[in-house]
Amino acid sequence: MSACIHTPVEARGLTKRFGAVTAIDGLSLHLERGEALGLLGPNGAGKSTALAMLMGLRVPDAGAVRLFGHAPGSAAARAMMGVTPQMAGFPDQLTPRELLSYTAARRGSRAPVDDVIAAFGLSPLIDRRMAGFSGGEVRRVALALAFLGRPLLVFLDEPTAGLDAEAQQGFRAIARAYVRDGGALILTSHHWDEIEAVCDRITMIDEGRKVMDGTLAEIRARMQTRRIGFALPEGRHPPEWLRATPQGQRWQAESDDSDACLRRLVAEQTPFADLVVEPLALQDIIARIRPEDRP
Ligand SMILES: Nc1ncnc2c1ncn2[C@@H]1O[C@H](COP(=O)(O)OP(=O)(O)OP(=O)(O)O)[C@@H](O)[C@H]1O
Ligand SMILES: [Mg+2]
Repeated sequence: MSACIHTPVEARGLTKRFGAVTAIDGLSLHLERGEALGLLGPNGAGKSTALAMLMGLRVPDAGAVRLFGHAPGSAAARAMMGVTPQMAGFPDQLTPRELLSYTAARRGSRAPVDDVIAAFGLSPLIDRRMAGFSGGEVRRVALALAFLGRPLLVFLDEPTAGLDAEAQQGFRAIARAYVRDGGALILTSHHWDEIEAVCDRITMIDEGRKVMDGTLAEIRARMQTRRIGFALPEGRHPPEWLRATPQGQRWQAESDDSDACLRRLVAEQTPFADLVVEPLALQDIIARIRPEDRP
């Protein structure tokens, strides 16, 4: 494989079978510095299996992975990456401080342990033994570990599963800052808003195969449709041509030329109030792109 030694992730033709199940079937991926890639797909699509092969936790039946030119699982690759598997199990008797300090030392970094402690709200927990930690608390420790010492590459499998809203926001801020500073990040998620907030590019997989791939900008540019929401005085109905539907106290319509719609509404002196025009959410855009139009 002629992987550029500087490419954070280069994977070609990855295939993994479990008995009769082909979990991943000929998947190729690459990731550049300063880029966050979201792996999407339904339960059982193969996301965790794909990530496990990238991290070197599973050996592919076919295909190959290089992380900055190194084999995954090699000491060189392991030294560069921060990971959070879907299920994290930590030694019960350790405190987060001990675990973070130990990991920082092992990564050879005089890492700013305090940064990640603050970022993931671990201060109140930092000297407690982890036995008895709640699911979300364990998750926050796992995320702190992944970003500890600014690794060159971070792999996250459903990073915010079970996190409260504040911790999810914290994660997004950390992830974006990490990528902006040149980090390379791959995550899996079932949260579309998280994908939109964090990722530059997505790869959708289903039954182990890539079904769609593209930057968020490319995907959005394929869909000119805008959602137009507004209120009307009680008893008034929007004009027929707009084909608006009631949404609670408001009305909602969609159009591929929202500017023309608005001009016409104004020209007809429609007494709309509290107008909102917005692009469709990523989830809706993807649902509407026909397979043959997919990037
Ligand atoms: N160790 C294993 N033994 C047998 N089958 C497995 C194993 N690991 C994964 N599979 C199967 O491979 C397929 C892909 O599983 P994987 O965990 O990668 O899915 P996923 O996309 O991460 O799903 P989820 O969204 O539920 O996390 C599934 O059909 C799963 O049952
Ligand atoms: Mg999974």
